[in-house]
Amino acid sequence: MNPAKRRTVIAGNWKMNFTPDEATAFINEIKPMVAGKDNCDIIFCAPYVTISAAMKAAEGSNIKIGAENVHFEEKGAYTGEVSAKMLKAIGVEYVIIGHSERRQYFAETDETVNLRTKAALAAGMKVILCLGEVKEQRLSGITNEVVGMQTKLDLAGVDAEALKNVIIAYEPVWAIGTGLTATPEQAEETCGEIRKVLAAMYGAEVAETVTIQYGGSMNDANAAELLAKPNVDGGLIGGASLVAKKFTAIVDAAQ
Ligand code: PGA
Repeated sequence: MNPAKRRTVIAGNWKMNFTPDEATAFINEIKPMVAGKDNCDIIFCAPYVTISAAMKAAEGSNIKIGAENVHFEEKGAYTGEVSAKMLKAIGVEYVIIGHSERRQYFAETDETVNLRTKAALAAGMKVILCLGEVKEQRLSGITNEVVGMQTKLDLAGVDAEALKNVIIAYEPVWAIGTGLTATPEQAEETCGEIRKVLAAMYGAEVAETVTIQYGGSMNDANAAELLAKPNVDGGLIGGASLVAKKFTAIVDAAQ
């Protein structure tokens, strides 16, 4: 991380975990553990039905609660979807878009990820945009091409002003939930590559200000090494975000 140039963001992605009561208990447990740790932003992205309870529990603390997805239309016949306007109405500021599980299991494409990103930004939300290569792509040596293409397609039509509200999460798909973490060198190289693509799109000065997180089996044991890399500006954390002690250790590593 490079705190002189950009904000470090440690975000939890709860995925399909925690009922409202469980989220409340978790936030109440972790709140005092992260109190005063202000060198990074701390966010938990929660299932839709859990957001309000988590927000209530987090009130007055340095913890923010986000959503895990958002639809690109404001309203209409989209059964099961939730719009940015709805999220804003309950006070949600952050939203994950383009998580690989959405791309893999729910057929989201760079096109819909781009539409969702633009809709969330237009509604005044902050986006955690996820991208990353699958194992075969890394083994074939085309990681840079893949993340470069995703960066360009997912951010098409997003101008430099709107980009201020975008955090990128580089998440190699092979590292998510597998216990296989990218090495700090791999994370640094690919986050740096994404920054190069941003520089080509928006200019080097703008690219230097964009927070780029690493995600994929980040935990209490490997966070410090990953976060020590200059282009790794935080983490998007799945499994370890469900365990207060582990998540707090990652926040500590970012201090
Ligand atoms: P993981 O998940 O930390 O459990 O690998 C990361 C993510 O999916 O964002």
